Amino acid sequence: MNLHFDSRKPLDCPHALLAVPVFSGAKPGHAWKAVDARLNGIPGQARDAGDLTGKDEQQLLVWRPSGDADSPEGPQRVLLLGAGDPKEWDMEAARGWAGRAVRVAEGLSLGKMALVAESPGKTSLSEIGQALAEGAALAAWEFRELRTPEGYRQPPARLVEEVSIHATVGKGKGERLEEGVRVGSILAEGENLARTLQARPGNVATPTHLAQVASDLADEVGLEVEIWGPRELKREKMHALLAVAQGSVQEPRFIILRHRGGKKKDAPLVLVGKGLTFDNGGISLKPPAGMEDMKYDMSGGAAVLGAMRIAARLKLPTNVVGLIPSSENLVSGAAMKPGDVIGTRAGLTVEVINTDAEGRLILADALSYGRSLTPAAMVDCATLTGACVVALGNETAAVLGTSPALVKELRAAGDRSGERCWELPLWEVYRKQLDSECADLKNVGGRPAGTITAAHFLRAFVGDVDWAHLDIAGVAYGDSPRPYLRKGAYGLPTRLLAEWLLARAG
Ligand code: BES
Ligand code: ZN
Ligand code: ZN
Repeated sequence: MNLHFDSRKPLDCPHALLAVPVFSGAKPGHAWKAVDARLNGIPGQARDAGDLTGKDEQQLLVWRPSGDADSPEGPQRVLLLGAGDPKEWDMEAARGWAGRAVRVAEGLSLGKMALVAESPGKTSLSEIGQALAEGAALAAWEFRELRTPEGYRQPPARLVEEVSIHATVGKGKGERLEEGVRVGSILAEGENLARTLQARPGNVATPTHLAQVASDLADEVGLEVEIWGPRELKREKMHALLAVAQGSVQEPRFIILRHRGGKKKDAPLVLVGKGLTFDNGGISLKPPAGMEDMKYDMSGGAAVLGAMRIAARLKLPTNVVGLIPSSENLVSGAAMKPGDVIGTRAGLTVEVINTDAEGRLILADALSYGRSLTPAAMVDCATLTGACVVALGNETAAVLGTSPALVKELRAAGDRSGERCWELPLWEVYRKQLDSECADLKNVGGRPAGTITAAHFLRAFVGDVDWAHLDIAGVAYGDSPRPYLRKGAYGLPTRLLAEWLLARAG
């Protein structure tokens, strides 16, 4: 996707469609006056008639009268698209608005379009620029690589490939907008990488595939990469990751990506993502209905890859390490069994009560490695528990951690990115649910408070590091998309992680 700031006035944009936000209330927006004049007052008439009050989702598509001498190159069509109450015009509203504008262009099979950026409320123009870029680039993305070009029953619609973003303000402000658009397009590109990996099915996106993507990414954007296979995992005593992988013919991988943006001695920020490329539960087999969605069990790992790409592309002045333990969880004669006691990199022994609680096992070894890097802070994200979907549904991730300040930072990054998270208590009283008769701890703590006991399990492997865990089981993918997403892979929490890194970088 070619997404860029364009210093030309909106009505001089070079594309066949220009989308203009129309706000409710007395002032419809900065661009309104010029647009209304150019369209012979038609928008004003529609507004007076009550057709265009600026309410969200209201729209009016007007063809420009031909023979316009002022700007013969300008847009053929102007889309006046409701943007709602200007007081509520924040980054998430702007993302949704840009997403709706892209859908209109798609419906008209226009590959290119222009957007007008306005900031009538509290949100700055650079933030709006960032959000418009994110909304447009995320909305335009679709997973097509496994379809034939002609399609089966109908040819696929033309996707939007180019979006220019225009200001209605003077030069100094335009530069800030330009910077916002640059950041937003890098964030969206990282998130779209995560979505592509999520959408790839289990027979394509194997642990070796994720490792290959990580290596290619490292070459492309300038990251350091290390890939560990069974030999290195044995050497490092990552027995928990090996135990999960032993039921599959696919070899596990441990992916290490490094962005060296800070000083050599600066403690790194460590991101860890669950890269379980297919989870059928193992011997504690899952029921068949909806099992195909377990290709998404690598969403945390995908988000970490996306966030590492963003860190490199933004040249963040911090050291960041991304860790992805990657494996399949399947059934075979070699698979781990309920009742098995396994070792871990940290030395703790684990009684496997349920082989479907495998995410925490592979994360345990990754977190223990992350801890050995003496990080400034460590954040993991994982599609870890069905209990989280019950607790918080499909709109909100759970966050739990050892550092209240870090949890607060992640909540703020969630609010800013629209990838919101909410804290659950990691109180000591829940920990005893993991007590085992025959090992140091069990891998499940029963049905009550399943998300909390899963986080307690992880906590056993982080020591005294400032650490937080995001349970993204309910939010990483789904079928009730926001206006700027489609059914399927959402890429969450790539931008949450990126916003957190940006905030830490100052
Ligand atoms: N990958 C699943 C969690 C999951 C569930 C993700 C629904 C997305 C949607 C995880 O490995 C799992 O199976 N967890 C079990 C844990 C239980 C056995 C303690 C669960 O939540 O049922
Ligand atoms: Zn599982
Ligand atoms: Zn899983």
